[in-house]
Amino acid sequence: MNISRRKSLALIGGGVITAAATTTGYSVTRSPTQATAPWKLAGTYADPRKKALSYALLAPNPHNRQPWSVDLSAGGEVSLYADLDKLLPETDPLNRQITIGLGCFLEVMRMAAAQDGYRVDLTLFPEGQNEAHLDNRPIAHAVFTKDGAQKPDPLFQHVMTRRSNKEPFDTSRVVRPETLVQLTNSTGEGVQLGGSVEAQDVAELRDLTHTALQIEVETPNTYQESVDLFRIGHREVNANPDGIDFSGPLFESLHLTGMFTRETATDTSSTAYKAGLDAVFANTDTAMGHLWLITETNTREDQIIAGQNWVRVNLATTALGLGLQPLSQVLQEYPEMDTEYQTIHNRLAPNGGTVQMLGRIGYGPQVAPSPRWPLEAKLAQT
Ligand SMILES: Cc1cc2nc3c(=O)[nH]c(=O)nc-3n(C[C@H](O)[C@H](O)[C@H](O)COP(=O)(O)O)c2cc1C
Repeated sequence: MNISRRKSLALIGGGVITAAATTTGYSVTRSPTQATAPWKLAGTYADPRKKALSYALLAPNPHNRQPWSVDLSAGGEVSLYADLDKLLPETDPLNRQITIGLGCFLEVMRMAAAQDGYRVDLTLFPEGQNEAHLDNRPIAHAVFTKDGAQKPDPLFQHVMTRRSNKEPFDTSRVVRPETLVQLTNSTGEGVQLGGSVEAQDVAELRDLTHTALQIEVETPNTYQESVDLFRIGHREVNANPDGIDFSGPLFESLHLTGMFTRETATDTSSTAYKAGLDAVFANTDTAMGHLWLITETNTREDQIIAGQNWVRVNLATTALGLGLQPLSQVLQEYPEMDTEYQTIHNRLAPNGGTVQMLGRIGYGPQVAPSPRWPLEAKLAQT
């Protein structure tokens, strides 16, 4: 679950915020600059593998857990592992979404290497894999080779401005069907990209994604998993630049005055809880279209391929100035979501297959880059 900063401000009210800001002074104006420093360091490394990885770690990934760990001990090679401390067992019990995030990471790494004139030969799951749970075997083994035939990928130029846009979209600006068509070239083999901006589809998918979000929040263990990952205020965000970040003057003030804490967020009678719900619904309910990715089967390789393609779609929407936010709740595999999971599959994949990603599209405000751990924190100790 992700909460829109803008909407919460509107809901909770400016008066309280202004008063709190004057008493707490300096600290409310701090932004988590350390947590976003990796965006400035991208591309600054001499080792071509580190250079590519410094972009890869900017890839989208579920709950911004950044579940990657890389081993560079063999020259010219990268072994990618899942960081098993960064899984989401409640909302992602099969580690499907975490695997998709690792696919996003691999694709940005490949694009960055190509930009630098390196070909990346990738072997997925070189030591085999487990369909039920990720384990400590490598996700991928990559060999970097200088290759004059490598062509830059045009989507790479959008890596630094790509975002998952968690703000309400402008409902006065429609997304034209031609815009959807422009996205179709962004994906490759192994996935089917679907999308609709038809009013009837939009209304029905708004409803379904809204309901699914409500189920996630009202299911204590799935909601608690998100709340445990709340990083509130610049100190928490800098200390743990992953999870769900709430920074900026509004959240600093609400945190300092005790109005927004992990405790108030779970108290269903609190303003923070209600404002949070309204804020996430403001996102589902302002979808101006939807996009989805389907794979025929649901192997670990399919999940990686879905991630490789999702980030490409996200880069293509960035190129068009279009906002994209994944809305994954309805695709999640826990019992309370069974009915909605079936409904979305019957609707989007009536002939079979797994809907790996679903997102809303529309025109929204520009949003800041989200926090990242630096590359050095992601290098496996050998
Ligand atoms: C598999 C996957 C599932 C995601 N699901 C959601 C979601 O349900 N809601 C949401 O707001 N963002 C979702 N995201 C986006 C992440 O929250 C986002 O990538 C992360 O916070 C980093 O932010 P950024 O993409 O703007 O860099 C998902 C991303 C991935 C790869």
